[in-house]
Amino acid sequence: MTWLITGGAGYIGAHVARAMAGAGERVVVLDNVTSGVPERLPAEIPLVRGSATDAELVARVCAEHEVTGVVHLAAQKQVGESVERPELYYRENVGGLATLLETVAGAGVRRFVFSSSAAVYGNPDTGLITESTPCAPVNPYGETKLAGEWLVRAAGHAHGMATVCLRYFNVAGAAEPALADIGVFNVIPMVFDRLTRGEAPRIFGDDYPTPDGTCVRDYVHVMDLAEAHLAAARRLARPDASGDLTLNIGTGLGVSVRELVDVIAEVSGDRRPALVEPRRPGDAPRAVGSSALAEKELGWTASRGVREMVESAWAGWCLRHPEATSK
Ligand SMILES: NC(=O)c1ccc[n+]([C@@H]2O[C@H](COP(=O)([O-])OP(=O)(O)OC[C@H]3O[C@@H](n4cnc5c(N)ncnc54)[C@H](O)[C@@H]3O)[C@@H](O)[C@H]2O)c1
Repeated sequence: MTWLITGGAGYIGAHVARAMAGAGERVVVLDNVTSGVPERLPAEIPLVRGSATDAELVARVCAEHEVTGVVHLAAQKQVGESVERPELYYRENVGGLATLLETVAGAGVRRFVFSSSAAVYGNPDTGLITESTPCAPVNPYGETKLAGEWLVRAAGHAHGMATVCLRYFNVAGAAEPALADIGVFNVIPMVFDRLTRGEAPRIFGDDYPTPDGTCVRDYVHVMDLAEAHLAAARRLARPDASGDLTLNIGTGLGVSVRELVDVIAEVSGDRRPALVEPRRPGDAPRAVGSSALAEKELGWTASRGVREMVESAWAGWCLRHPEATSK
């Protein structure tokens, strides 16, 4: 069987494609290279350039590569942009997904892994988020991921397709420097960016009801995340696979912004003190996920820590910003 990996030239997708191919699975990547980087993929992984929302192309790729399973990562993923351009997010992340599901179901695909997000929960007031914590997304990005889950589940039931939705928490790190995230939308690259400019890191609010007063998040290494996709694919490949699963993919461990900034200072060697600024609207004090269900259903747990994430992310940053190392 062959797995079609949409968005496989992206940050997470390239790690997933490599992990699956490295474990002996046959894969083909479909990516329109809007934010993807083809060089992230080794030559032995075929890359088809085009959109996962192009029904004709998807049908052709499924036929040519004898695709029987899909791992769908291609999406629009910037929270701020989703607020400004909700139509784009609904069109790509929900409308595009509907086209993809209809096409692959017609091509005989009966296994589907969907890239969801902890953004579906919004800002719940709870110690540890489980899959039964109510979903209340607070931006169009999170809404499209939640609607995407509903659609995947409904299409799965309609077409006899076994499905897994993976709700990622904060993804960080890289398997090697060239695979690192190139966006500056998450706290780790945002701090790197400040340091490289010779500016102090910023902490938004230190008066939250958390141990050190700063926001607490759950960081998961992208290699652990890639292994979760492999485990999900293997679970779906069982002959008796059926039904739908929705699973948190995190570590269950909270790391505060202050702790993270301290690790970045150690790794980068730049120890200038952080500036504390007012809280940003919409930031939840704490967002940490229980992955007990993923452990039970997939036999998966995260094994890599924050230091490893920051070190590998810093190596990737320095590759693209050589000036960072001379500070
Ligand atoms: N990065 C995170 O922290 C995080 C957290 C939760 C969920 N996610 C989800 O994980 C997935 C991957 O995110 P990422 O961080 O690797 O982003 P990314 O932008 O690096 O990767 C997305 C990839 O999809 C491709 N793409 C976009 N639209 C496409 C289309 N219509 N057809 C084909 N290819 C298309 C892009 O070129 C890119 O290669 C997304 O679905 C995102 O919502 C990411």
